[in-house]
Amino acid sequence: MSASAYVPAGADLETLRKAASECRGCDLYRHATQIVFGAGPGDARVVMIGEQPGDREDVVGHPFVGPAGRLLNRALVEAGIDRSMVYLTNAVKHFKFEERGKRRIHQQPGRTEIVACRPWLEAELSVVRPELVVCLGAVAAQTVFGPSFRVTRQRGEVIALEDYRAVATVHPSAILRAPDREAAYEEFIADLRTVRTAME
Ligand code: URA
Repeated sequence: MSASAYVPAGADLETLRKAASECRGCDLYRHATQIVFGAGPGDARVVMIGEQPGDREDVVGHPFVGPAGRLLNRALVEAGIDRSMVYLTNAVKHFKFEERGKRRIHQQPGRTEIVACRPWLEAELSVVRPELVVCLGAVAAQTVFGPSFRVTRQRGEVIALEDYRAVATVHPSAILRAPDREAAYEEFIADLRTVRTAME
C-alpha cells in the first residue's frame, strides 16, 4: 500500500491537493469524509506536522480546526508564532476512527498507513522547502526522524537533517489528556519558544 502512484511529479500545492482527493493508497479513504490536505503558505519557513485529522477536521476538510487546533492556536500566540505564516499538515491525511454508537473514536494510524501516506508529506515538503519542520507528537516525529526517536527524551532539540532543521514536541491532544494540563501546556510553550528562537 502506498500513495506514491497518486502523487503527481513536480506538482504545485494546488495540484497535489486535488490529486490527493483521489488517493486510494491505503484503506482509510473508505470511511473518512474527505482527505485533509495541508494548509498554509506555499513559501512558509516553518512546516508543522500533526498525526492525522480528527473528527472535526474530517468534516471541515482543514487541519487543526478542532479542540487540538484551538489549543495549538492559543499556544502559538503565546509563543509569538503567527499561525498564518506556518504550513500545517499531518503525517496521515485521512481520519482513522472506530464507530461507537453515534461517536467516532480516534484510532492511532498504524505503520502501514503512515508509510503509505508518506509520499504526500514528502511532496508537500519538497514544494514548501521549509527551513524548520516541527513534529507534533510521536507519529510525526518518527516519520521525520525514524522509528527510534523518542519525543519524551528528545523534545525541544533542534536537529539538522539533510534538507531542513527539525524539532519535535508533544501533540496538542496529549496536553488535553494530560493529568497536569497546566504543566504540560507550559512545557509545550517552552518548546514552541525554541521554535521561534530557531527562526530568528
Ligand atoms: N490532530 C492532528 O494531528 N491533526 C489535526 O489536523 C487535528 C488534530
